[in-house]
Amino acid sequence: MSFVDQLGRPLRSLRVSVTDRCNLRCQYCMPEAEYVWLPREGLLSFEEIVRLVDVFAGLGVDKIRLTGGEPLLRRNLPDLVRLLAADRRLTDLTLTTNGVLLADHAEALRAAGLMRLTVSLDTLQPDRFRTLTRLTTHARVLEGLEAAARLFSTLKIDSVIMRGVNDDELIPLVEYARAHHAEVRFIEYMDVAGATQWAADTVVSRAEILQRLEAHYGPLEPLDDSVWAPADRFRLPDGAVIGVIASTTNPFCGTCDRARLTADGLWLTCLYATDGIDLRAPLRAGTPPAELAARVEQAWRARSDRGAELRAADRKRGIYIPASTLKGNSHLEMHTRGG
Ligand code: GTP
Ligand code: 5AD
Ligand code: SF4
Repeated sequence: MSFVDQLGRPLRSLRVSVTDRCNLRCQYCMPEAEYVWLPREGLLSFEEIVRLVDVFAGLGVDKIRLTGGEPLLRRNLPDLVRLLAADRRLTDLTLTTNGVLLADHAEALRAAGLMRLTVSLDTLQPDRFRTLTRLTTHARVLEGLEAAARLFSTLKIDSVIMRGVNDDELIPLVEYARAHHAEVRFIEYMDVAGATQWAADTVVSRAEILQRLEAHYGPLEPLDDSVWAPADRFRLPDGAVIGVIASTTNPFCGTCDRARLTADGLWLTCLYATDGIDLRAPLRAGTPPAELAARVEQAWRARSDRGAELRAADRKRGIYIPASTLKGNSHLEMHTRGG
C-alpha cells in the first residue's frame, strides 16, 4: 500500500500514547500546578489499540513507538507489547519512557518483544533533577537506565537542553551514554503546546550544541543516515555516536512520516496540530477495518502539515498556546499526544 500526503511524505510511523498521566513534571513539558486528565473510561483498551495498529500496519506503518505521558504508568504494558510484537509487519517496536519505573519493568518489556528503548534524561545531578522535574526520583531513573543497558542492545538517551538549566552537561551526558552503550540525542527546547514557559533565549540551538562538542572533542563527522529520522547523527573523533534533534531551529517537517494516536483514540497528523480525527467512536461503533483504513488514507493524502516549520518562520515566536487555553482542551498538550 503506497500513498503519500500533499508534500510527498509517506505514512510509516505511529506514536501511540497509552496514557496522558505522568509521574514527573518536567519544566519543558508540564510546568503548571494542575492538569485536567482524560477521563479513564475514554481510554482505548489494549485490544482496541491493537485493532487500530492493525489498520495502520495495513496501510504501510511499520514503526510503532509507545509513549505517554509516562507509558509505564499504564498497567500491564508488557501485555500490549506482546500483542504488538506478534505482528510481523512491524519492523520497529519501541518505547519512550522517563525511566522512573523502568528498573521494575525492563525485563518484562524485553521478554514481551520490545525491540529497543529511549529514556529521557536531562541531567546527571540529583538536585537539578528535582528542580527540573519537581520529583526526587533521579536515582530510580539511573537504575532504570542501567537495567535497560543490560537488557537492550539499542538504547537511546534523550536530553532536552535548556540554557541556564542543563546546558553545562553536554559532555557529562555524552560520557554517561558512552559508559552505558547508549546514544545520547540532544533535543532543542521546542515551543510545543504544554511548554508554557518557553522563551526563545532558553533554546540552545543545534549549531551551538555542535560547536560546544567540537570545542571539547574535536571535529565531528556527520553520518549519512535515513532522511526520515529526526536526529542528525555525528561521530566523535573517539568513535562515540551522538544525535541532535533540531526541531526548533531546523525542523524536519519535509521528511516527517509520523502520526500520533492519543490514549483516547484521537489521531493527529502533526505534533502542532490543533485538531485530529477521532478513531475511537467509529471503532466502538463497529466500523469495518477497511472503512477505517479508507478514512485514514484519505486524511493522510490531504495532509499538508508542517507545524514546526511554520513556528520557525514566525518572527514574533513566543508561547504557542497559553496555559488558559490548554486547560480547556487537554488534547493540545504535548503530554497527551506523546513526546
Ligand atoms: P528514533 O530516532 O527512531 O529512535 O525515534 P524518535 O527520534 O522519533 O523518538 P523520540 O521519541 O526519542 O523523539 C525524540 C524527540 O524528537 C522528541 O522527544 C521530540 O522532542 C522530537 N520529536 C518527536 N516527534 C516529533 C514530531 O513529530 N515533530 C517534531 N518537530 N519533533 C518531534
Ligand atoms: N521540547 C523538546 N522536547 C520535548 N519533549 C517534551 N516537551 C518538549 C519540549 N518542550 C520531549 C522530550 C522528552 C519527551 C518525553 O518529550 O524529548 O524527553
Ligand atoms: Fe511532523 Fe508536524 Fe513535527 Fe513537522 S511539526 S515534524 S510536520 S509532526
